Amino acid sequence: MGHSYRAVQWNRFKLRYDMALIAGVVLFIAAFMGISAGVHPEATAETLLIRGLGLAAIVLLHVILAIGPLARLDRRWLPLLYNRRHLGVTMAILAFIHGGFSILQFHAFGDTNPIVSLFTAGSGGDSISGFPFQPIGAAALAIIVLMAATSHDYWLANLTAPVWKALHMLVYLAYALVVLHVALGSLQVQSHWAPAALLGVGVLGLGTLHTMAALQGRGPDLAVPEPSGEWVDVGSVSDVPEGRALAAMVAGERVAIYKNEGKLSAISGVCQHQNGPLAEGRIVDGLVVCPWHGFQYRPDCGKSPEPFHETVPTFRLEVRGGRVLVQTMPLPLGTTTEPVPATLEDSAP
Ligand code: HEM
Ligand code: FES
Repeated sequence: MGHSYRAVQWNRFKLRYDMALIAGVVLFIAAFMGISAGVHPEATAETLLIRGLGLAAIVLLHVILAIGPLARLDRRWLPLLYNRRHLGVTMAILAFIHGGFSILQFHAFGDTNPIVSLFTAGSGGDSISGFPFQPIGAAALAIIVLMAATSHDYWLANLTAPVWKALHMLVYLAYALVVLHVALGSLQVQSHWAPAALLGVGVLGLGTLHTMAALQGRGPDLAVPEPSGEWVDVGSVSDVPEGRALAAMVAGERVAIYKNEGKLSAISGVCQHQNGPLAEGRIVDGLVVCPWHGFQYRPDCGKSPEPFHETVPTFRLEVRGGRVLVQTMPLPLGTTTEPVPATLEDSAP
């Protein structure tokens, strides 16, 4: 598939969002350092900064991993999905500074090369168990930095969406490594139960959200239900070019009417990735390809090909007197519809 690269435009909303994000992170770290300095007057500013940065990074990582399932469960979360990459890059920067300062603090003043020391010096920081938790943090950091470095749309277009997405699935491995890094390191020296409980709530919360979203998105193929809702005339059969779509508004929803090998199908016009305009895409190898970042959907059922699980709603479609009619109510997610021949003859009722 050859997709031309098209930058997602910067806008005032994104800029305001980024300013709020930076202010939130700075306030979070300052508040953490202030409170911790009161509780642990013996702790140095460097130690508190390292902890504050690590904590801000892990909190952001939880937010990032929660946005996907939340947006799938309730579309009102979608605006956050637009900006998830900025959260990811911010998290990577925080984790990078946290790791860098830790290496400086614990490994830079001996005879051994700091990076060699990181992997050979045992626990380094405070860990009662003596477990070398820092190399685990380093492995997580390597994945996180790789993802941040390839997060730009330039890489999405050039690596192709399936490769890019597979690469970015590594975030779950990075998450598991970060949880281990904290559980085998910092948590070992905490006398209070709250930090361990908070981490437990985070892991369980994310697990629950992902399970709920997976169950909703991967329901069984339902039988096509009885027609419901009004029928809307969206245009003439000849308005739909082969391999492309006719864009329509049906009851306030964007709908894309695609023609593939002479047959028509109606799917939602809103891409599950970042709300891209699916009606402006085209058919490649029998799949609808989103024009923004190349996510793919089958025109008859709206599902992404394996191993992906995005699904856009499908709509009932009929041809009457050379006109294309689409039903206002979308079908239950994942419903397969029989594509309708794009001829002047009426389709079967
Ligand atoms: C080269 C990579 C890394 C190194 C060398 C490193 C090192 C450390 C050290 C020494 C501590 C203990 C600090 C202390 O208790 O005084 C720590 C704690 C922590 N690290 Fe890392 N780390 C790395 C990567 C990461 C990454 C990628 C994340 C998250 C995205 C992370 C999140 C945390 C958190 C949440 C804590 C606990 C903070 C607290 O006790 O309040 N670390 N790390
Ligand atoms: S919006 Fe990104 S692929 Fe559709």
